Amino acid sequence: MIYIDKNESPITPLDNETMTSIITTTPYNLYPDEAYQHFKEAYAQFYQLSPAQLIAANGSDELIQKLMLIMPEGPVLTLNPDFFMYQAYAAQVHRPIEFVKATQNLDFKLNDILQRIDEVQPSFFIMSNPHNPSGKQYDLSFLTAIANKMKDIGGYFVIDEAYLDYGDAYQITMSPHILRMRTLSKAFGIAGLRLGVLISTPETIQLIERIEHPYPLNVLTLNIATYIFEHDKETWQFIAIQRALAQQLRTIFDNYVADVMTVYPSQTNFVLTQGEQAQHLGQYILNKGFQPRFYDETGMEDLVRYSIATVEQLQQLEHIVKEWRAQYDISKTT
Ligand SMILES: Cc1ncc(COP(=O)(O)O)c(C=O)c1O
Repeated sequence: MIYIDKNESPITPLDNETMTSIITTTPYNLYPDEAYQHFKEAYAQFYQLSPAQLIAANGSDELIQKLMLIMPEGPVLTLNPDFFMYQAYAAQVHRPIEFVKATQNLDFKLNDILQRIDEVQPSFFIMSNPHNPSGKQYDLSFLTAIANKMKDIGGYFVIDEAYLDYGDAYQITMSPHILRMRTLSKAFGIAGLRLGVLISTPETIQLIERIEHPYPLNVLTLNIATYIFEHDKETWQFIAIQRALAQQLRTIFDNYVADVMTVYPSQTNFVLTQGEQAQHLGQYILNKGFQPRFYDETGMEDLVRYSIATVEQLQQLEHIVKEWRAQYDISKTT
């Protein structure tokens, strides 16, 4: 089975020789006193930030959990649907959670969000952008309006940018109530090493540091990630490959099936489809050895999501989708 259900990277960023060299020179018998700081410096340099603006953890999952614990008392507001872990971690720590409802076509209207912020008065508002599962990226004016609203009510705005490397980079003016969350699990290809980063102003980062462990991350993960960010030319090339795979995936669905089901425009490494035919195609693809993401949540049963695979696997997927399409056309004419 080829798994295209978790939006992972199908490729790894480092070759075996480089990995061997990092592993054999990492003093893993010792506590990692310096490695975390080195990683922050390399990451900050790559994105032109300051290390004091960063906190890292075992995947953005852990950062979401930390936010649920440390953000001021009060409900968290998010979108419905959005990344499921927001709900899961809110439930873990008994933080009330409220939602902004999607429109019929899985979109969110700025006014609906602003109105819900007024109603709920959340301690913080968290949303993924680009959005999971629709794949849509909301623009800077949309984000700025939400940020301003959260500032007005004295709350925080957390933008989960897990898929931003596949979308369009933007500069939002940093301020203590704005947090940008990133992961190395997608475009950087190290999901198994578990590394996520939060970016804000130093004062907000210090607030979250209050619940940090003495050694927040393991030394191998840190040293591998530091290597990645210190080799910026190779890393930007790796991201370009990821973006090309995302384009290859989108083209398959746009070219062969967009006229018989909803294919959401995507600025991520996945494509979301919807409708009766989408479910049919999803089953067909599953029977041919690719595992897409199906949803059993109420109201999401007719959605099927596919994430990127290698060039060769995507060629295989294209063949399967074409085959399904030909059968669909025959069934229409008989
Ligand atoms: C929107 C979003 N945020 C965060 C994550 C989790 O990332 P990590 O692997 O860093 O925990 C995912 C993973 O699918 C995601 O879709």
